[in-house]
Amino acid sequence: MAIRSARPKPRRQRTAGRGVCLAITIIMVLSLTMLAGCPGKKESDVMTIRFVTWKPNQPEAWEEILRIFHEENPGIRIEREIGPHSSTAFHDLLTQKLKNRSRDVDVFFMDVIWPAEFAAAGWAMPLDDFIAAQEREKFLEGAILANTFENRLYGIPLFVDSGMLYYRKDLLKQYGFKPPVTWQEMADISGKIVIKESKKGRYIYGFSGQFKQYEGLVCGMMEYILSNNGMLVDREKGVSAVTGKPAIEAVRFVRDRIIGGAAPVGVLAYQEPESLDLFIQGKAVFHRNWPYAWQIANDPQRSTIAGNVGIAKLPHFPAGKSYAALGGWQLGISSYSEHKEAAWKFVQFLASDRIQKLLAVRSGKAPTRKALYDDPEVLKANPHFRDMKDVFLSAYPRPVTPLYPALSNILQRYFSTVISDRQSDIAGEAENASREMNKLLSMTQ
Ligand code: GLC
Repeated sequence: MAIRSARPKPRRQRTAGRGVCLAITIIMVLSLTMLAGCPGKKESDVMTIRFVTWKPNQPEAWEEILRIFHEENPGIRIEREIGPHSSTAFHDLLTQKLKNRSRDVDVFFMDVIWPAEFAAAGWAMPLDDFIAAQEREKFLEGAILANTFENRLYGIPLFVDSGMLYYRKDLLKQYGFKPPVTWQEMADISGKIVIKESKKGRYIYGFSGQFKQYEGLVCGMMEYILSNNGMLVDREKGVSAVTGKPAIEAVRFVRDRIIGGAAPVGVLAYQEPESLDLFIQGKAVFHRNWPYAWQIANDPQRSTIAGNVGIAKLPHFPAGKSYAALGGWQLGISSYSEHKEAAWKFVQFLASDRIQKLLAVRSGKAPTRKALYDDPEVLKANPHFRDMKDVFLSAYPRPVTPLYPALSNILQRYFSTVISDRQSDIAGEAENASREMNKLLSMTQ
């Protein structure tokens, strides 16, 4: 990986007189260079590409990426607009701009659930003319599929996410437990460890995950439901499946055994960062998160449990099998961009082998380029990529529809209502949500 060091700064001149002389010389040289049409760029020659993204977990890695791009592309300047980290809030910011055909956005981050919506609305430009078939084949098939709408490609996948179970290796070993296979086991084991630890004056929780009303709640709840043989939407019939017995049972388990049980009630306000904080402060035995959490949890500067973290597939219910939600972020180009070629140059650079590798090594992002799963440096930084590769490959997508955000909104409200109230009528609320979902789903049949 070519990571170049910053150029040394020029030494300060010792006397004012020499400073003035030097400044005059520099101005003369610069003017001559410009007149001669040499590499020095005039301000007006530099094209600005506006990149709408969210605040990264490892900001230094992104600083480095932009530094490399600027160094190699002196004619393009990337101006970043950093939006909120939550997928739901970021969606609102970005779609507002795109609805207004804003010139403030050329390249943007796109959650894996948005390509259909952005394509149908005409916001994301099709990229088929930019990317050759052989190049496309180097990416994970599912990731390309997630960016394809009516046979055209609307985004280039930058990294994939899939849900996984993190656990405290040291605590499980100390008390003689293996990583849990079922959700019930997870709740039982964590309950026992919490009691044993409290007898030693250490007060911890069993589990930490994301249960706030936002997109992450749909990912998590879908994992529970799928792992009990249920579904959110029946793919064949195209109708809601949240009233099905397996789905109701899974939701009831979360309400009765996870919230205020294995996990503190506070998780009802947690997105990824808050839930990870609890885990890395050593206050939870188990944790559900995406692959990036591995490096943070093992970073002694940020985590009190570095070196004591294990990873396993998410548990399932006795009748089902383990499922991970498919997540991940894509790069899209606005249909309204006036600099599409330059925007593509930037997208191509970000999704390249070299930059995906940097993101994998430095910030634990799971690559979308297949070859990187055999790369020794990537595997050294992320040993779990070897064992979890099939989890990435088989991660389950959320329903694919241009109306996904509206569908998700119904699901978020439903899940949040029932899991935050032990007296809630789960079946009744599921009926209401189902009716709303079916109305929406029938619009796209
Ligand atoms: C991660 C996933 C994304 C998902 C989000 C939910 O960022 O990559 O697909 O929607 O989490 O919080």
